[in-house]
Amino acid sequence: MRTNAMPRSGFRRRALAGALGVLTAAAALVAPPPAAAAESTLGAAAAQSGRYFGTAIASGRLNDSVYTTIANREFNSVTAENEMKIDATEPQRGQFNFTAADRVYNWAVQNGKEVRGHTLAWHSQQPDWMRNLSGGALRQAMIDHINGVMAHYRGKIVQWDVVNEAFEDGNSGARRDSNLQRTGNDWIEVAFRTARAADPAAKLCYNDYNVENWNWAKTQAMYAMVRDFKQRGVPIDCVGFQSHFNSGSPYNSNFRTTLQNFAALGVDVAITELDIQGASPTTYANVTNDCLAVERCLGITVWGVRDSDSWRSEQTPLLFDGNGNKKAAYTSVLNALNGGTSEPPPEGGTIQGAGSGRCLDVPNASTSDGTQLQLWDCHGGTNQQWEPTDAGELRVYGNKCLDAAGTGNGASVQIYSCWGGDNQKWRVNSDGTIVGVQSGLCLDAAGSANGSPIQLYSCWNGSNQRWTLT
Ligand code: G3I
Repeated sequence: MRTNAMPRSGFRRRALAGALGVLTAAAALVAPPPAAAAESTLGAAAAQSGRYFGTAIASGRLNDSVYTTIANREFNSVTAENEMKIDATEPQRGQFNFTAADRVYNWAVQNGKEVRGHTLAWHSQQPDWMRNLSGGALRQAMIDHINGVMAHYRGKIVQWDVVNEAFEDGNSGARRDSNLQRTGNDWIEVAFRTARAADPAAKLCYNDYNVENWNWAKTQAMYAMVRDFKQRGVPIDCVGFQSHFNSGSPYNSNFRTTLQNFAALGVDVAITELDIQGASPTTYANVTNDCLAVERCLGITVWGVRDSDSWRSEQTPLLFDGNGNKKAAYTSVLNALNGGTSEPPPEGGTIQGAGSGRCLDVPNASTSDGTQLQLWDCHGGTNQQWEPTDAGELRVYGNKCLDAAGTGNGASVQIYSCWGGDNQKWRVNSDGTIVGVQSGLCLDAAGSANGSPIQLYSCWNGSNQRWTLT
């Protein structure tokens, strides 16, 4: 089982007043480096871990400057709320209309955002002509639709929701009855194969709701389908968890297990339409941390900007109120994305390897600059006590820093007198990795035995790259 959390509760809180005093004195001499500073928008904060934070955008609201100001500032991914759906893009058979879809797409790319495509094959929001089709004619219409829309956006859409909401709610675990389902059980894989050929660059997702709770039959049915697709080579790259949480479909802490289990099948996962009835800050933070804990979680999309933009506005489920003010849930998501950096960093403790159970250790308690670190049985000696600082350093003996001697794979990680360089700054991530700010590479144990050297290496989610601060 993976160790995703990095418990830090054993660390004692540093004397903040003293630390601030030191920082103020230092600032008088030289401006402190911003490397480990918390980000102030959702998109930038998510980008620290290579993820995006997106929103649904409605083309009809793009003339509202309060809306566009928030959307542009906070989000770096966009999903068209309705404009890329079947009824919008192919209102008459064979006659495609991308006016509204392009409005959203162009706004997004002109403002530097990536775009998720939503959605190509769905039982809902079908135009009348499609709703009236069945059998082979409907199957062909679905294929033509996928080809027509994906050709228009070929190479431009990062992820496509190829198929949406194909499973029944409740305990049956069955496919949802729909005109598409009645064309034959293979309609979903045909949709994915068609999509892969139409735009090989896009990640192809299956997207659904009420599939976040690992124990629910619908979740299990979706899991069985994805596993089967992976086994048979049906081209699927990602699973979207809509995550519309409310009293009838509440958040459950096993969501993280669900995300992990799907990722273990070899697909990416994404939270695609997040809204939470009442917008509990705790639940929003939990969902955010669930994504951050899963390496293959690509990012989070909330289903609208302000409460007043929501399809469920009466539930006030979003991060901004109707006036565009940040809600408490906003702050809790931002803090989670920033790795909890709103709190002062904790005082020293050991850093234990998840795979080895051994500690990050300065050999022979040396204090010499350039001494490469190793794994050693944890004993809590001063040569195993690491203290994170506000600047992003990990200090030992008070004045020596965890220091990368290079920027490439295999570069030695050593102790060196602290001097404020980026090669001495580290991002401690919620998935247990410790990433060098300068190199972007992971703190890596080149073995699991006593004496195994510590180096930098490309992050690959191995247990030799996950650490627990105790
Ligand atoms: O644009 C027309 C407007 O001209 C008309 O006056 C008005 C009258 O009802 O309807 C407007 O269209 C509505 C459209 O939203 C735009 O606001 C449709 O009636 C309404 O059905 C549509 O609802 C959308 C819903 O999907 C349709 O299934 C919601 O905005 C949209 O948020 C919602 O999104 C879905 C995801 O695609 C899939 N997952 C669930 C999610 C929530 O239902």
